[in-house]
Amino acid sequence: MNKSMALIKNKKILLGVTGSIAAYKSAYLVRMLVKAGAEVKVLMTPSAEGFITPLTLATLSKNPVLSTFTKQENGEWNNHVELGLWADLLLIAPLSANTLAKCAHGFCDNLLMATYLSARCPVAFAPAMDLDMYAHPSTQENLKKLKAFGHHIIEPGEGELASGLEGKGRMAEPEDILEEIEILLSNTQALKQKKVLITAGPTQEAIDPVRFISNHSSGKMGYELARVCRNAGAEVHLVSGPVNLRVPKGVHFYGVHAADEMYAKAQAIFSGADVTIFVAAVADYAPKSVSETKIKKKDDELSITLRKNPDIASALGKVKKDGQITVGFALETDNAEMHARKKIESKNLDMIVLNTLQDSGAGFRYDTNKVAIISKVGEKVNFPLKAKSEVAEDIVNAIVKLMDQKV
Ligand code: PMT
Repeated sequence: MNKSMALIKNKKILLGVTGSIAAYKSAYLVRMLVKAGAEVKVLMTPSAEGFITPLTLATLSKNPVLSTFTKQENGEWNNHVELGLWADLLLIAPLSANTLAKCAHGFCDNLLMATYLSARCPVAFAPAMDLDMYAHPSTQENLKKLKAFGHHIIEPGEGELASGLEGKGRMAEPEDILEEIEILLSNTQALKQKKVLITAGPTQEAIDPVRFISNHSSGKMGYELARVCRNAGAEVHLVSGPVNLRVPKGVHFYGVHAADEMYAKAQAIFSGADVTIFVAAVADYAPKSVSETKIKKKDDELSITLRKNPDIASALGKVKKDGQITVGFALETDNAEMHARKKIESKNLDMIVLNTLQDSGAGFRYDTNKVAIISKVGEKVNFPLKAKSEVAEDIVNAIVKLMDQKV
């Protein structure tokens, strides 16, 4: 289970669906929320039913869909106050211009509006409308009002709209909505006002325009750490080598290729960072010279002279100031603990996270990892094999504990 799933599990989510062509995406959204372990109840406005059937959303949410103040079959009341109090989150997705205007001005002409006005939980909106409707000053004023009420707006994307026009107004994709919900529901603020720098992924060291030296790092461990730090309230700066992952929302992102670039970027951010976590698998060596043209196949053997890359953790360890915390990783194949302890010294780290390729399910590429956290003073805590999202939480907890000790 990834981090977003863990935060969403067992949460009670009211999903308001309004009249917009993007209502079809609500089906995916419900499915993803239910899969993540949330209990979902869907409220539809009368016009939403013209875009997607209640049967679809009832089936996917495993709950009856509510749209009227009373139940047609027995006249019983659909209690909006109870619904509003039941929810951990009210999410209105898609949010039409009409419902937006009603929310901004307190109209109460359907069950969704009555529930919105009764809800005490956080409220998030994912607007969906044509570009001119979205850009209209009246829509923008209404959105400002919702923000001023303390609600959360999930920005629409840009692209082709149902009208055939291109522009801003497409409802955010369900995956993005899920991630925004995750941020909204995370309530630890242990790293509030802290700046965290994370290096992640592999580096790629060019040999010629088509080839490079690299390693198997997928970036998963570093990106999970970025997510957990962000959820703990930190301002996160993620310097990443090339990986195939979505950049966590709300994180400052710097994509790099070679170790030199990663070093330059990390160096520029480091002095202001309260915590730096070196997760990247940085190539220790790079070709001494990069051929400007593709190297042609000729002899049976080819030698490439390598030069040492900067050791980013070591270099920044040398300029580290009091109060800054640095955390390294050690990926070992033999004499793991001894090498890891040496790295604490040589890189001036406060702690090191040891993972070894001898443990199955640990290290590169897996969604899981098995680590030991070793502190500068020599304490070692072993953790079982866990999802990388959970490993990231263990690491952040250890960092927060260390910060508390330093105060
Ligand atoms: O990305 P994934 O597929 O999720 O895999 C995660 C991981 C295995 C890459 C990660 O858990 C990990 O172990 N990262 C560090 C890998 C590594 O390069 O270890 P090392 O023992 O060679 O380096 C020790 C430390 O120095 C590391 O913190 C490393 O980021 C840092 N270093 C190393 C060399 C260098 N030139 N510059 C550095 O900053």
